[in-house]
Amino acid sequence: MNRPVTDAHLVTTGAATVAATVVADPAIPKVGPTTSKASSSKAQARGWLQLNAPMTEWSGRRVWLVGASTGIGLACAEALRAAGAQVVVSARKPQGVKDWAAKDAGVQWQEMDVSDPEQVKATARALLAQGPIDLVVYAAGYYKAQRATDIDLQNLLQHDTVNYQGALQVISAVLPSMLARQSGHISVLSSVAGWRGLPNGLAYGPTKAALTHLAEILYLDLQDHGIGVSVVNPGFVATPLTAQNEFTMPALISPAQAASEMLKGWARGEFDIHFPKRFTFWLKLLRLLPYRLYFPLVRKFTGL
Ligand SMILES: NC(=O)c1ccc[n+]([C@@H]2O[C@H](COP(=O)([O-])OP(=O)(O)OC[C@H]3O[C@@H](n4cnc5c(N)ncnc54)[C@H](OP(=O)(O)O)[C@@H]3O)[C@@H](O)[C@H]2O)c1
Repeated sequence: MNRPVTDAHLVTTGAATVAATVVADPAIPKVGPTTSKASSSKAQARGWLQLNAPMTEWSGRRVWLVGASTGIGLACAEALRAAGAQVVVSARKPQGVKDWAAKDAGVQWQEMDVSDPEQVKATARALLAQGPIDLVVYAAGYYKAQRATDIDLQNLLQHDTVNYQGALQVISAVLPSMLARQSGHISVLSSVAGWRGLPNGLAYGPTKAALTHLAEILYLDLQDHGIGVSVVNPGFVATPLTAQNEFTMPALISPAQAASEMLKGWARGEFDIHFPKRFTFWLKLLRLLPYRLYFPLVRKFTGL
């Protein structure tokens, strides 16, 4: 994970496939002595793109997934467990996770409400007493469409409590132990809805923009301490959270597909793990537009 793990990667150069050794520290992208010049530059390019130490080997790794009783978090817990990780799943209601944990010693259910700071501290303390956490995934999320013409302060604050403040609680609870070990990775589920303002996103969008901003600063501060940081920006994923949407969601994917993209992103050492690309590509372009073009385009596309 973010310990200096050495991984053997296969690098393909024309017909020949040669093994290249890429040291997990992105600052030292090393290539094995038997590689050709072309494969060496490919590996160096890959090293340049890797903003985090790649996480490819999950066996023996311990992952705490917060907000993982359903949807993307649950699918991610399942994918990580299938890859060999020990997973700890937290949320308020266990759904089927308790049964899963009863059958599999590599799965642990730890009930927790992220809006209760004392509960978060106590849970993190208990988990850390059992052993180090290699990766924490913050997937807890709440969404209800809201427009400024029908403002609801309670609901605005509820979004902030779960989506943003909960992340602060969890990160503050695990970071000291990661800093002490100079190792670990923090990954937060943000959203493309946080990239720019969108109608109906009055309550949700700002919390996601804040999470992405938070992740950027965490990355800058923790890069020299052996701790990886990534931000996950999904498009539309079919989960209980989006089941309330009454419109046809473009480029909709399944939670399992989302989890697969996340594992790929972590394996590539990406900071910004966004998917599906056929959707996020257009939103990245929209992000670059000046407001005088952006506002009318968004109104045209959404009809709002
Ligand atoms: N689905 C999408 O299209 C999409 C797109 C972009 C980003 N995202 C983000 O991806 C993340 C996962 O969303 P999802 O779509 O998988 O939704 P989901 O299925 O509704 O999952 C949300 C999870 O958060 C937990 N949670 C909610 N409030 C909590 C609290 N107070 N304390 C602890 N856990 C809490 C829920 O469990 P309990 O209710 O039992 O606590 C559930 O496990 C969210 O951050 C969401 O904003 C989703």
